[in-house]
Amino acid sequence: MKEQLIAIKSQAEAEISAASDSAQLEALRVRFLGKKGELTAILKQMGSLSPEERPIVGQLANEVRSALEEILTKKSEELKTAAMAEKLKEEAIDVTLPGKKQELGHKHPLTLVLDDIKQMFLGMGFDIVRGPEVETDYYNFEALNIPKGHPARDTQDTFYITENILLRTQTSPVQIRTMEKMKPPIRIISPGRVYRSDAVDATHSPVFHQIEGLVVDKGVTMADLKGTLELFAKKLYGEDSKVRFRPHHFPFTEPSAEVDVMCFNCQGKGCSLCKGEGWIEILGAGMVHPKVLSICGIDPEEYSGFAFGMGLERLVMRRYQIDDMRLFFDNDIKFLNQF
Ligand code: DAH
Repeated sequence: MKEQLIAIKSQAEAEISAASDSAQLEALRVRFLGKKGELTAILKQMGSLSPEERPIVGQLANEVRSALEEILTKKSEELKTAAMAEKLKEEAIDVTLPGKKQELGHKHPLTLVLDDIKQMFLGMGFDIVRGPEVETDYYNFEALNIPKGHPARDTQDTFYITENILLRTQTSPVQIRTMEKMKPPIRIISPGRVYRSDAVDATHSPVFHQIEGLVVDKGVTMADLKGTLELFAKKLYGEDSKVRFRPHHFPFTEPSAEVDVMCFNCQGKGCSLCKGEGWIEILGAGMVHPKVLSICGIDPEEYSGFAFGMGLERLVMRRYQIDDMRLFFDNDIKFLNQF
């Protein structure tokens, strides 16, 4: 029996040290030390030994068991360390590889110019407010003194959601919304998208941008309007730019004007940019109609105001000499990367 024990020990030692993974190791543990294992099988035969032999063999069996347990533990540690080293090797990161390049976007030309314009008006003490693009007939037309059937509606045909809800044709409804909410003094600009059911061509788009301006306070006059727009034109087109006011009609301002700047390309002589006019129209403006003030709960006897509205696309087209409005909305990287 002693020989058997010693044979088991050396056999187990050999096989354990040859094990290549923890599953194999566990199988060996079961095979040699488990309840139905080889060592247990021998211990079960102890009954057949003489009383003198029994303690000697018993002690030897215990020694073999603890020796095997010890090498099993040691081997298990070894395998774990090796597995970890293997894993680390597999997952190693090559820090010298070049990284993935992040393409940096940049601002759209419309946004670039709008940002400039916002800064100019912020510098003059204006706030920037926003209004909804889906509007009611009331704000888009009615409250701006454009009742149903008014010819001004024909020039601003738009997309209707219901009979009374539409995509705004102008940013002017923000004037009404602002005057309903704020008490004078009011000084705001409101940029945003507007819609008209125009066919797409080089100078028309069913979606475009306007910037609305509104100032209401005690004693505001046409001189304030002219001064503000002159300053704006100088900031936008340079110190020696000139503006001119032409009488015009808008239902929500009285008097109304269209405002031109002297063509910065030909200094008023007439060229292809200004179509021989020498002047370029940049916006519509006027003194807020007393009726509009009243509708918004502002007493026209006490307060007066001016308003203006301009199209952003046309300003940007002129600044960068872009001759086709569709380029703004095509998302062609070759075009956009030039700004
Ligand atoms: N809303 C006008 C349009 O789209 C532009 C305009 C003209 C706005 C005169 C104004 C203004 O605020 O006073 O044609």
